[in-house]
Amino acid sequence: MSLKLPGSDYGVAEHAHRYSRVARLMPHAEWDAHYELVASIEALKRKRNAVVLAHNYQRPEIFHGVADVQGDSLALARWAAQSEADVVVMCGVHFMAETVKLLAPDRTVLIPDAQAGCSLADSITAEDVLAMRARHPGAPVVCYVNTSAAVKAASDISCTSANAVQVVESLGTPEVIFVPDQYLAAYVAARTRVRIHAWRGRCEVHERFTGDQVRDYQQLTKAFVLAHPECPEDVQQAADYVGSTSGMIDALHRHRPARAVLITECSMSDNVCSAFPETEFVRPCNLCPHMQRITLQNIRDCLQRMTSEIEIPRTFDIAARRTVQSMLELDGARRA
Ligand code: 13P
Ligand code: SF4
Repeated sequence: MSLKLPGSDYGVAEHAHRYSRVARLMPHAEWDAHYELVASIEALKRKRNAVVLAHNYQRPEIFHGVADVQGDSLALARWAAQSEADVVVMCGVHFMAETVKLLAPDRTVLIPDAQAGCSLADSITAEDVLAMRARHPGAPVVCYVNTSAAVKAASDISCTSANAVQVVESLGTPEVIFVPDQYLAAYVAARTRVRIHAWRGRCEVHERFTGDQVRDYQQLTKAFVLAHPECPEDVQQAADYVGSTSGMIDALHRHRPARAVLITECSMSDNVCSAFPETEFVRPCNLCPHMQRITLQNIRDCLQRMTSEIEIPRTFDIAARRTVQSMLELDGARRA
């Protein structure tokens, strides 16, 4: 291992220091194998005045190795709106990078693999939203942030799993159209009197979990079960806690369980386990194939070549930005 790469302040000491974040996951030799790439990325970040954002489902060597900001969709969107970096690299899926571009239109926004999509976002088009509006005249449209910019442009306000109930209730209408996740819609419907007209989209990762699985974990391992609201309703009903990825982290801080199962994409347990040394994580492994397309190699390549750059077509960028900004304004007012 060389001591320092040219143009990088990142050296062996810093690399060894960061190992404490992943010590529960990989042997030292495996972490050391990432050194050259991590050091190259750190040097490129300085050269480009770039920041790296990573969703909670990214691989640990990305999440703990090169990310400047980590979090759920809402936290990353909020951060993007305030960023002063020239270049933002979104380590996540395409709709997340589009959201960053909508909120930071004058920055260069890169995604390391433009094919990193989302089965949920792909389940609906802008035309589908217009057809739902025609079926439910007068009902406003709330779109989950897991949608394309075109779908956002056809909607009234976006939400994430962290604020979906508040967004629905903020509209003050007796009914809303909620797209595209049917299970998140069920989660909201169980917590509000507003009538929800849901699109029947599902996430290919979360729909695989079952209520029987949750009960087995509870009985056999005595673990505290935390589930994402993209999981089917029987999973949500059986779980001890249901919430967004950041909500799960907050719940772990509050409960400090001896054993926990996160019913969600399994990189998340890897990423949070170092913050909860007293908790044993039982790890059912459902990986999101789209999130896993992002690697240290393609992050390095994207910063070197400045590809793939996110562009929002002019035909809908103003409307899509308004939809996301409405959510952030509501969120800001709620937090003030
Ligand atoms: P969060 O908004 O909870 O981070 O989840 C995003 C996502 O894609 C879940 O599958
Ligand atoms: Fe989309 Fe599901 Fe992957 Fe999240 S986990 S990015 S909802 S496919």
